[in-house]
Amino acid sequence: MKFVLATQNPKKREEMAAILGDLGVEFVTEEDIGVDVEVEETGETFGQNAALKARAVMEATGMPAIGDDSGLCVDSMNGAPGVYSARYGGPELDDAGRCELVLEMMQGQTDRSAHFETFVVCAFPNGDWFAAKGECHGSIAFAPMGSNGFGYDPIFFRTEEQKTFAQMTAEEKAAISHRGNALRSFKERLKKYLEEHPEMTEGA
Ligand code: IMP
Repeated sequence: MKFVLATQNPKKREEMAAILGDLGVEFVTEEDIGVDVEVEETGETFGQNAALKARAVMEATGMPAIGDDSGLCVDSMNGAPGVYSARYGGPELDDAGRCELVLEMMQGQTDRSAHFETFVVCAFPNGDWFAAKGECHGSIAFAPMGSNGFGYDPIFFRTEEQKTFAQMTAEEKAAISHRGNALRSFKERLKKYLEEHPEMTEGA
């Protein structure tokens, strides 16, 4: 049984395969099977956007599909950038520009608490679906630190590790990250679903 990841990003497949690899199912990206489904992320929550992606790719391919959506939520910015994380500040900004913009918005702010959130949704052609959520709590640093990772990693500081996400290795980050937590919870859901539907792993 193959599951399609509703993404054009091969890194996501590696990340998923690392955590979900021993379930006896195969994960392919849209690119692997030659489809490119345009999904407008019109949802107001990460869960809605993840479901939109999963459902659109499931409908286009006739295969079970997994969609995910993540973002950074800053408490003193009323949860922004939230679902707009990827496009915060407009299309002319890159990752570094978006980090600078958040730092600007946070100037003089004493409450710097923030969290990342991820929703993973799996949609099956028979109408079944389930979702899993993961969070990672931390704070907004006073300046970017580190060069690993992507997105807001250089400004997301974890008191426990005394590092930003961008100062961690991929393994260190995955062990505590919102996406890692969502995938670990998703794995339990998928495992249970596959136990209830043995026909899906037969011959795999
Ligand atoms: P996506 O839904 O996983 O593609 O994430 C949407 C946006 O949220 C990304 O473009 C990043 O700006 C931000 N983001 C999500 N996850 C992370 C992360 O682990 N580190 C830094 N930024 C992230």
